[in-house]
Amino acid sequence: MKKVLVTSALPYANGSIHIGHLVEYIQTDIFVRFLRLTGRDVIYICADDAHGAPIEINAAKQGLTPEQLIAKYYQEHQKDFQAFHISFDEFYTTHSPENRKYADLFFAKLKEKGLISTKEVAGLFDEEAGRFLPDRYVKGECPKCHAKDQYGDVCEQCGATYTPKELINPYSVISGKQPVRKKSLHYFFKLSAFSEQLKVWLTENKSLQQEIIHYVLKWIEQGLEDWDISRDGPYFGFPIPGETNKFYYVWLDAPIGYISATQHYCDQEKKNIDDYWKNGEIIHFIGKDIIYFHFLFWPAMLMAAGFALPQTIVVHGFLTVNKEKMSKSRGTFMTARTFLEQFHPETLRFYYAANLSNKMEDINLDLADFQERINNELLANIANFAYRVLSFTNANFQSKLGAEIDHAFLKEAACDKIDQHYQSCNFREAVKEILRISTLGNKYFQDKEPWRLVKTKKKEAQKVLTTCVNLVKNLCIILKPILPEYAGKLEQQLNLNDLSWKDLSTELKDHTINKAEIIIRKIEQEGREQQEKAQADPFAQLNIKVAKVIAVQAHPRADKLYIMQIDLGAEQRQIVSGLREHYTEKELQGRLICVLSNLEKAKLRGEESNGMLLAAEKDGKVVLLEPKGKPGEQVTVEGVKPTANSITISAFAKIPMETRHKRIYYQGKALHTASGEVMVEIADGAKVS
Ligand code: MSP
Ligand code: ZN
Repeated sequence: MKKVLVTSALPYANGSIHIGHLVEYIQTDIFVRFLRLTGRDVIYICADDAHGAPIEINAAKQGLTPEQLIAKYYQEHQKDFQAFHISFDEFYTTHSPENRKYADLFFAKLKEKGLISTKEVAGLFDEEAGRFLPDRYVKGECPKCHAKDQYGDVCEQCGATYTPKELINPYSVISGKQPVRKKSLHYFFKLSAFSEQLKVWLTENKSLQQEIIHYVLKWIEQGLEDWDISRDGPYFGFPIPGETNKFYYVWLDAPIGYISATQHYCDQEKKNIDDYWKNGEIIHFIGKDIIYFHFLFWPAMLMAAGFALPQTIVVHGFLTVNKEKMSKSRGTFMTARTFLEQFHPETLRFYYAANLSNKMEDINLDLADFQERINNELLANIANFAYRVLSFTNANFQSKLGAEIDHAFLKEAACDKIDQHYQSCNFREAVKEILRISTLGNKYFQDKEPWRLVKTKKKEAQKVLTTCVNLVKNLCIILKPILPEYAGKLEQQLNLNDLSWKDLSTELKDHTINKAEIIIRKIEQEGREQQEKAQADPFAQLNIKVAKVIAVQAHPRADKLYIMQIDLGAEQRQIVSGLREHYTEKELQGRLICVLSNLEKAKLRGEESNGMLLAAEKDGKVVLLEPKGKPGEQVTVEGVKPTANSITISAFAKIPMETRHKRIYYQGKALHTASGEVMVEIADGAKVS
C-alpha cells in the first residue's frame, strides 16, 4: 500500500487563526485520525505561509521585521492548533532553507524546459512609499457605482470587479498619495502549455469532486493565461536567482511549502521523501477560494518539475455565522482564542463534523443550534449513555463484565457503515450513524431495565451491562477521529488503551473497567446568551486598558505632540498623544491613564503610536480620564466583553461616550475597571476621544 501524505492549506503568518480556518484544519484532522486508526501509513503536513506583500507591510506598520512578525504568529498558530487537537506530524514554515532550495529547483526546471518568459508590466507605484502596490493596497471610487473607498479589485457596495487602474481617484492605502503607473519586468510561467495534460488529469481522476472539475475544465476551455510569478521589492520572499530586486510571488513558493515541509519531516524522521512526492498518495484539503491555485497552477508546476500529482483535493466551503459572512462589526468574528475562552474545543470539532459533507457547501455556525446539538446529541445522547453504563457497572458489578453478550443487539448496532463515511469525508453521515448507534444503546438500556433486573436476575442484568459496555467501546472507537480527547478519557475509564478500528470486532468479556467520570459538560443557556449579547454590543470592539505613563518626551517634529512610553502590565508600548497644550511633561509622568489598546498602529509624524490615550473634551478643554486600578486592568461597561483584535479610528469614532457627574457613560452605563470607577474632572456633556 502507498504511503499517504495529507495536507491542509498553509495559513498566512499574518494574523490569528479564526474559527473559519478551523473548518479546514478540523476537517483534515478528522480524516487523518481516521486513516491512522485504520492502520494506514499516513503523515499530516502543514506550515505557515510566511511570504508576501501584506506580511512585509504589516510588519513595517508594527515596527517589526517580517521575520519577527512571522515568528510571533508561528508560536501563536502552533498553540491554537494544539488546543484544537490538530495532529500535524509536521508544522513548518515556507520561510525555510528547504523551501528556498525547492523554489529554486522548480524555477530552474521550468526555465530549463522553456516555460518561463519575461514581459514588461505596468503597475501602480506609490512614489512616497517607494513600492508597487498590490490590489488590496489601492483604494478609490468604484468606476461602476461611484462608491468611495473601494478596494482595487472589487466593490463592496455593488459587487463589480475591475482592475486597480480603473478606480477613480485612486490612492495608496500606505501613504494616501495617488499612485502613478510604472513599468517593470516580470517573469511568467507558461501555464497554457499544460492545458491538455491538465484536462486529462482532471477527467481521469475519479476521486476529485465532480462539481469542481466541471468548472475548472471550463476555465481551461476559455484558455489559460500565462501566470505572473515575480514581484518587485520591497517584498518578503525569496529572491529570483540573478536578480537584485525581484522575488518569487508568494503563491509560487507557498504550495512548494507542502514539499519542503515534507522534506523537513523526512530529515528528522529519517524517511525518504520519494515515498511521498514520487510514489505516494497525496491528498490536499483546501477552501473554495483557492481552487484556481490548486487545480491549475500547482498541478502544472508538479508536472513540469516531475513530482507526483495529488490523488485527491478535498474542497470545503466557507464558514458563515448565523448564515452571514463572519464579521467583526457584527461581533461574529471569532478567533480560535476567543472560542476557547467560552467553549470546550471538542464542541467545535463535533459541531463541524456534524455539518461537514464531502460537497463544497458553506457551513453555518448557528449559535442556538450549536448549543442544542452539543447538549442534546453530544451530552444527552452519547456522553450520557457512556456514563450511565459505566457508572452502573461500577456500582452494581464491582466494575466487572460477565462472559455473556447479547450478540443480536450488537449486530443491530453494528458500526460497519461508518468507515465509508469517514473515508469519503462525509462526516455529517458519520455523526448521524454514531447518533443512531448511541440512541439504540440508550433505548436498549431503558427497555431492559437493568436497575430492576439486578435485584432478581443479576446474571441477566450483567449480560445487559456487558453488552452495553461493548457498545460504549465501539462508540469510543468511532468517535476517536472527531473527539480525540473525550475518547481518550473514555478509553481510560474503560481500562483499555490504543483502541483502533480493528477493535470494533473484538469483544470485552470478564474485563474490569475503571471508575466512570463525567467528561464533558452542558453549555449553559444563560452563559451563551450573555456571551452573544456581550459580543453584539459595539462597545465590545474596544479594548481599553489602564496604563501608567513611564516616560514623556516632546515630539521633535510636531509642536502639539508628545511621545510617551507606557506600561500596560504585560507589556510596554509607545504612544503619541496631542496633549502638549494641555499637560506638562511633569503632570503626565507616573500618571494612570486609559488607553485604547487595540487601535490599529499608526505613525504620527514619523513616530510609531501603538494605541491611543482617552481624554474628554469640551469647549477646547481636554482632560484625561482617571481610572482606578493597576496597569493592564480592563476598562469596560457592564455586560460587555472585548472581542475584536483591532479597531480603526473611524470605527472607534462611531461609539459615543459622554461625561456626566464626572463619570464617562456609554449608553447609560458607566466605564469602570475591576477596582472601581473611571473619573474625569470636566463638565457634563464632554465627548471622549
Ligand atoms: N496561504 C494561503 C494558502 C496557501 S496553500 C499553499 C491561504 N491562507 S489563509 O490563511 O487565507 O487560508 C487558509 C485556509 O483556510 C484556506 O484553505 C482557506 O480557504 C481557509 N479559510 C479561511 N477562511 C475561511 C472561512 N471563513 N471558512 C472556511 N475556510 C476558510 O489561503
Ligand atoms: Zn460599486
